[in-house]
Amino acid sequence: MLKQPSSKYPAFKPIGLKDRTWPDAVLTQAPIWLSTDLRDGNQALIEPMDVARKLRMFDLLVKIGFKEIEVGFPAASQVEFDFLRRLIDEGRIPADVTIQVMTPAREELIARTVESLRGARKAIVHVYNAVAPVWREVVFGMSVPEVMGLVQRSVGQIRRLTDAQPETEWVLQYSPETFSMAELDVSAQACETAIEAWGAGRPVILNLPTTVENATPNVFADQIEWMSRRFADRPNVILSVHPHNDRGTGTAAAELALMAGAHRVEGCLFGNGERTGNLDVVNVALNLYVQGVSPNLDFSDIDAIRSEVEHCNQLPVHPRHPYVGELVYTSFSGSHQDAIKKAFAVRKDGDVWAIPYLPIDPKDLGRSYEAVIRVNSQSGKGGMAYLLASEYGLELPRRLQIEFSQAVQAVMDAAGKELSAADLWQIFEREYGLADAPVPLQPVMQDVDGQSVRVSARLELADGPVAVDGQGNGPIEAFVNGLAAATGRQLRVLDYHEHAIGSGAEARAVAYVELRVDDSRTLFGVGIDANIVSASFKAIVSGLQRVAPSSNQTSEIQQVG
Ligand code: KIV
Ligand code: ZN
Repeated sequence: MLKQPSSKYPAFKPIGLKDRTWPDAVLTQAPIWLSTDLRDGNQALIEPMDVARKLRMFDLLVKIGFKEIEVGFPAASQVEFDFLRRLIDEGRIPADVTIQVMTPAREELIARTVESLRGARKAIVHVYNAVAPVWREVVFGMSVPEVMGLVQRSVGQIRRLTDAQPETEWVLQYSPETFSMAELDVSAQACETAIEAWGAGRPVILNLPTTVENATPNVFADQIEWMSRRFADRPNVILSVHPHNDRGTGTAAAELALMAGAHRVEGCLFGNGERTGNLDVVNVALNLYVQGVSPNLDFSDIDAIRSEVEHCNQLPVHPRHPYVGELVYTSFSGSHQDAIKKAFAVRKDGDVWAIPYLPIDPKDLGRSYEAVIRVNSQSGKGGMAYLLASEYGLELPRRLQIEFSQAVQAVMDAAGKELSAADLWQIFEREYGLADAPVPLQPVMQDVDGQSVRVSARLELADGPVAVDGQGNGPIEAFVNGLAAATGRQLRVLDYHEHAIGSGAEARAVAYVELRVDDSRTLFGVGIDANIVSASFKAIVSGLQRVAPSSNQTSEIQQVG
């Protein structure tokens, strides 16, 4: 790279619109959307869509709610021409949807384009030519008056040909290509020329592209406000924008352009298109939605839309892509997970959406909460506790979370990859010996004197069988005393939690017991059983058994995941 890039890449020039008003504008309604997936998007594909894929894309766009769809460049190839004819001849275009087709400003292509639309109910003929200095001078070798002559002749030809097909309701769209790089007065002159050749008072869309995005979006907004002042008071003129994404600011350019006076936006689903893509219309639409503005496009099942788009385009959508990517509703960071969990816990039906790190409710787009919290080495205890709670109904006491997170971290460090809820459950089961927990056999509980209880049972511990016989204020204390006597250990219960998992006949109880053993170790035991007292006994045994876990068990745990 160059040390002084300015000699090769001169800075873009600001517009100097001192009295600009767009910075204060607030977007309160959706623009007219035009999908160009079948034209600009399609032309940028490694393998352009065949007719079957085009039909699927068209049906998808209709289902989402697009009312204007650019269906292709029919003069470019037979596939494009045939696809358009199928849409018209098979009556596939709904009454409230208008198709648009594009043609360069070339006589023979214009003629074939208008011909391809024969019999359509309504159509937008989109003609473009280059107006910016590099294109007009270097690529086409044309002076400004020659460019205006081309616009005048091309639009005049479209007018004559479309007048000869009066069964169709016609709209002209004129794009001064490379608008964002052209002198504003040259673009405006080209637009005036197009309007005049089309006939004042007839419907026209002036479509202003950032053919190649070349400046910060505020500059584009100034350009749009400049054009809007010039054309806004003409009721038959609609100002449209067509951003690309070369600087990665296509969405911002579209939004600021709407604030600056544009009423229509052209783009593609998930930003497919030439180079870095066309504007991502889904992004702009859902940005409006999360500002409380209905976009009039339906993304209620965004994953189904993504898979249909991936099929048609034969290109994947990135896992981090706004609103749709596989990972965009997932938090791996422990502090994020903690914040999300707290906000979900206090959220009530009907509340405004205020969940940290989730700008939109995934359910509105047909996504579930399942993937919201996932556990990797960055996660800490919050995510793991959330997953065990949401998937297995365990409400781990806070100190147990801290203890268990060390076991999880050990596995994570060894495996070095994400852990699923099932992985966490497996680690939990092994760590607390749930699968093979010794069951107190033939337990007998007797009331001694109306104040204390006596518990006796047999147990198969790892070190051999023991007979438990103890007395205490309640069954837990009695069992702990009996177990201490039977094993020769000192045992004290420091903390105790229990709750039900599930409901009805399937309900089980889970008990968490924090034990102090031999006055030297503090650790938890966990027990699960249909009976709450048995669950508590199992939890106590689980804690005691964990005092000296075999080295075998630790190495097995570390292999999980
Ligand atoms: O990006 C562009 O300039 C175009 C025009 C044809 C509108 O796609
Ligand atoms: Zn384009």
